[in-house]
Amino acid sequence: MAIRVFLLVSSVLLLLLSLSAGVERLGLSLWPPGLAGFHGPLMVSAFFGALIALERAVGLSEAWTFVPPVLMVLGGFLLALGEPFGYPVLLLGSLFYVAVAAYIYRLQPADFTQAMGVGAVLLFFGNLAWALFYDPPWAALLWAGYLVLIVAGERLELSRFVPKPARASWQFALAEGTTLLGLLLFPLAPGVFARIGGLGFVALALWLLRYDIAWVNLRREGVHKFMGAALLTGYVWLLVGGVFLIGYGLPPAGPVYDAILHSVYVGFVFAMVFGHAPVIFPAVLRLPIRFHPLAYLPLWLLHLSLFARIYADFAGNHAVRVQAGVWNALAIVFYFAITAVVSLLGLRDRRPL
Ligand code: HEM
Repeated sequence: MAIRVFLLVSSVLLLLLSLSAGVERLGLSLWPPGLAGFHGPLMVSAFFGALIALERAVGLSEAWTFVPPVLMVLGGFLLALGEPFGYPVLLLGSLFYVAVAAYIYRLQPADFTQAMGVGAVLLFFGNLAWALFYDPPWAALLWAGYLVLIVAGERLELSRFVPKPARASWQFALAEGTTLLGLLLFPLAPGVFARIGGLGFVALALWLLRYDIAWVNLRREGVHKFMGAALLTGYVWLLVGGVFLIGYGLPPAGPVYDAILHSVYVGFVFAMVFGHAPVIFPAVLRLPIRFHPLAYLPLWLLHLSLFARIYADFAGNHAVRVQAGVWNALAIVFYFAITAVVSLLGLRDRRPL
């Protein structure tokens, strides 16, 4: 229990540090200063790396599977202290995580464990692209692929029992293969392969919009409806990110780069976090998480502020871009604050969920 809680609390701290680093990249200084250059690695390799690896370790309940989240948390804190030695630690953590993903695949060989395993490999390559080659756009694309494939694999697993036509399985494989082709070969011809990666994202988003069980959730009430709304709106952002990639490739920096990356990272990934938190946090903490309809407020705030950020990115309006970016970060903080307060009050009440 102690290690689970320690790792979860550390991940939440890493999330706050990486959000603060993101706001700093927009030009506003928050505490602690000097993290702007670490925003991407802190957010993806450290926070998401640790959170996802922790969820797997809790599911497997074998001591060695806790090594990746421990290394990722350690690597993240070293970076936050300005210590570049954090990079090799994160790289090692992601290598161990590939071993855990391979072990999961051996225990349960299936299309969804395979997709999540490929996601783990992309995290490792992304860390390599950042730490060894210092190629931020390539790393950012590989990391996006990691999160997209982890989510897609998870949804593939949950939608297993929904009746689907036989073609659904090769459509998924084709979408995954296209994504991999684009992301892995990106440095050879960035203009071409970013677009192929974008095509893969579009195909995966369409697959999820077509076959995911989230539509069933949407027709239910309470937390199920919320999860359905979060997931489906997130898939639309993945579609948007993929379309931008097809249209623009991936510029090496600047507002279009910002729009493309954060359509996927904020719009898709955080909508997935909001939608899965009612399932992931109880599993990791082994405590009930309560849902309150107030959770819709940060969800819509996330989508609206991201819309404003992307509009400002394309319109060249820096002031709106900064404000909208800050509201993106606040939406994420509000969501966790609301969930924590409602759950703590629920624990005190001891009312049924
Ligand atoms: C929510 C508030 C966020 C803010 C204010 C923010 C801000 C920024 C900014 C300003 C950039 C540089 C873009 C440019 O070159 O013009 C950036 C890059 C990046 N962001 Fe974010 N971001 C946020 C959320 C996220 C999230 C949630 C993720 C991942 C899940 C993420 C991952 C990245 C990555 C990987 C890069 C590229 C690598 C780098 O250049 O550091 N960001 N972000």
